[in-house]
Amino acid sequence: MGMKVDHIGVAVPDLEGALDVWRDVLALEVEDIEVVPDQKVKVAKLRAGESVIELLEPTEEDSPVGRFLARSGGGIHHICLEVEDLEAALEAFAAKGLRLVDEKPRIGAGGHRIAFVHPKTMGGVLLELTEAPR
Ligand code: CO
Repeated sequence: MGMKVDHIGVAVPDLEGALDVWRDVLALEVEDIEVVPDQKVKVAKLRAGESVIELLEPTEEDSPVGRFLARSGGGIHHICLEVEDLEAALEAFAAKGLRLVDEKPRIGAGGHRIAFVHPKTMGGVLLELTEAPR
Protein backbone atom coordinates (compact mmCIF):
# COMPACT_ATOMS: atom_id res chain seq x y z
CA MET A 1 0.00 0.00 0.00
CA GLY A 2 1.82 3.12 -1.21
CA MET A 3 0.80 6.39 0.32
CA LYS A 4 1.54 9.98 -0.54
CA VAL A 5 1.23 13.21 1.36
CA ASP A 6 -2.08 14.75 0.33
CA HIS A 7 -1.65 17.91 2.37
CA ILE A 8 -0.13 19.46 5.46
CA GLY A 9 -2.45 21.40 7.76
CA VAL A 10 -1.10 24.56 9.38
CA ALA A 11 -3.08 26.29 12.14
CA VAL A 12 -3.12 30.09 11.87
CA PRO A 13 -4.81 32.70 14.06
CA ASP A 14 -5.44 35.04 11.13
CA LEU A 15 -5.96 33.64 7.63
CA GLU A 16 -5.49 36.95 5.81
CA GLY A 17 -2.22 37.56 7.62
CA ALA A 18 -1.05 34.03 6.81
CA LEU A 19 -1.95 34.50 3.14
CA ASP A 20 0.25 37.61 3.09
CA VAL A 21 3.15 35.21 3.60
CA TRP A 22 2.14 31.89 2.03
CA ARG A 23 0.40 33.36 -1.04
CA ASP A 24 2.11 36.69 -1.54
CA VAL A 25 5.70 36.04 -0.41
CA LEU A 26 6.02 32.34 -1.28
CA ALA A 27 3.86 32.81 -4.39
CA LEU A 28 1.83 29.65 -3.80
CA GLU A 29 -1.43 29.57 -5.70
CA VAL A 30 -4.67 29.59 -3.69
CA GLU A 31 -6.88 26.84 -5.11
CA ASP A 32 -9.81 27.27 -2.81
CA ILE A 33 -11.01 28.90 0.41
CA GLU A 34 -13.93 27.28 2.21
CA VAL A 35 -15.49 26.92 5.64
CA VAL A 36 -15.71 23.34 6.92
CA PRO A 37 -18.49 23.50 9.54
CA ASP A 38 -17.81 19.97 10.83
CA GLN A 39 -14.32 21.00 11.96
CA LYS A 40 -15.14 24.66 12.67
CA VAL A 41 -12.37 25.96 10.43
CA LYS A 42 -11.92 28.22 7.44
CA VAL A 43 -9.48 26.49 5.10
CA ALA A 44 -7.28 28.00 2.39
CA LYS A 45 -5.73 25.39 0.09
CA LEU A 46 -2.44 26.36 -1.50
CA ARG A 47 -0.99 24.22 -4.25
CA ALA A 48 2.62 23.15 -3.67
CA GLY A 49 3.48 20.82 -6.54
CA GLU A 50 1.84 17.41 -5.99
CA SER A 51 0.94 18.37 -2.46
CA VAL A 52 -1.12 21.06 -0.79
CA ILE A 53 -0.62 23.32 2.22
CA GLU A 54 -3.87 23.92 4.10
CA LEU A 55 -4.03 27.04 6.25
CA LEU A 56 -6.59 26.50 9.00
CA GLU A 57 -8.21 29.40 10.83
CA PRO A 58 -10.70 28.37 13.52
CA THR A 59 -14.21 29.80 13.22
CA GLU A 60 -14.69 29.18 16.97
CA GLU A 61 -12.23 29.21 19.85
CA ASP A 62 -13.85 26.08 21.24
CA SER A 63 -12.84 23.78 18.40
CA PRO A 64 -9.94 21.38 17.78
CA VAL A 65 -7.90 23.95 15.84
CA GLY A 66 -8.92 26.77 18.20
CA ARG A 67 -7.69 24.79 21.20
CA PHE A 68 -4.49 23.85 19.35
CA LEU A 69 -3.82 27.55 18.63
CA ALA A 70 -4.45 28.50 22.25
CA ARG A 71 -2.01 25.79 23.34
CA SER A 72 0.74 26.28 20.75
CA GLY A 73 0.28 29.70 19.19
CA GLY A 74 0.03 28.04 15.77
CA GLY A 75 2.12 25.85 13.53
CA ILE A 76 1.85 22.47 11.85
CA HIS A 77 -1.42 20.92 13.02
CA HIS A 78 -1.63 17.69 11.01
CA ILE A 79 -0.24 15.71 8.12
CA CYS A 80 -2.64 14.05 5.71
CA LEU A 81 -1.77 10.86 3.85
CA GLU A 82 -3.81 9.53 0.97
CA VAL A 83 -4.82 5.88 1.15
CA GLU A 84 -6.55 3.73 -1.45
CA ASP A 85 -9.27 2.36 0.81
CA LEU A 86 -10.06 4.35 3.94
CA GLU A 87 -12.13 1.71 5.77
CA ALA A 88 -9.48 -0.92 5.14
CA ALA A 89 -6.70 1.40 6.32
CA LEU A 90 -8.58 2.29 9.53
CA GLU A 91 -9.21 -1.37 10.27
CA ALA A 92 -5.59 -2.34 9.57
CA PHE A 93 -4.08 0.52 11.59
CA ALA A 94 -6.42 -0.08 14.56
CA ALA A 95 -5.54 -3.79 14.48
CA LYS A 96 -1.87 -2.82 14.67
CA GLY A 97 -2.44 -0.72 17.76
CA LEU A 98 -2.96 2.81 16.48
CA ARG A 99 -5.52 4.83 18.39
CA LEU A 100 -8.14 6.30 16.07
CA VAL A 101 -9.98 9.57 16.56
CA ASP A 102 -12.51 8.46 13.93
CA GLU A 103 -13.53 4.81 13.78
CA LYS A 104 -15.48 5.58 10.62
CA PRO A 105 -14.79 8.02 7.75
CA ARG A 106 -16.37 11.45 7.87
CA ILE A 107 -16.62 14.31 5.40
CA GLY A 108 -13.79 16.84 5.34
CA ALA A 109 -12.80 19.79 3.16
CA GLY A 110 -13.80 19.46 -0.49
CA GLY A 111 -16.36 16.77 0.41
CA HIS A 112 -13.60 14.16 0.70
CA ARG A 113 -13.91 11.19 3.02
CA ILE A 114 -11.37 11.54 5.83
CA ALA A 115 -10.52 10.15 9.27
CA PHE A 116 -8.04 11.14 11.95
CA VAL A 117 -5.53 8.98 13.83
CA HIS A 118 -4.76 10.14 17.38
CA PRO A 119 -1.33 11.74 18.01
CA LYS A 120 -0.91 9.56 21.11
CA THR A 121 0.23 6.55 19.09
CA MET A 122 1.84 8.64 16.32
CA GLY A 123 4.69 10.23 18.24
CA GLY A 124 2.70 13.41 18.79
CA VAL A 125 1.65 13.86 15.15
CA LEU A 126 -2.03 14.19 14.34
CA LEU A 127 -2.48 12.09 11.20
CA GLU A 128 -5.34 12.58 8.77
CA LEU A 129 -6.17 9.92 6.22
CA THR A 130 -8.01 10.66 3.01
CA GLU A 131 -9.15 8.37 0.26
CA ALA A 132 -7.72 8.59 -3.25
CA PRO A 133 -10.34 9.49 -5.84
CA ARG A 134 -11.33 6.39 -7.83
CO1 CO B 1 -6.51 18.20 6.65
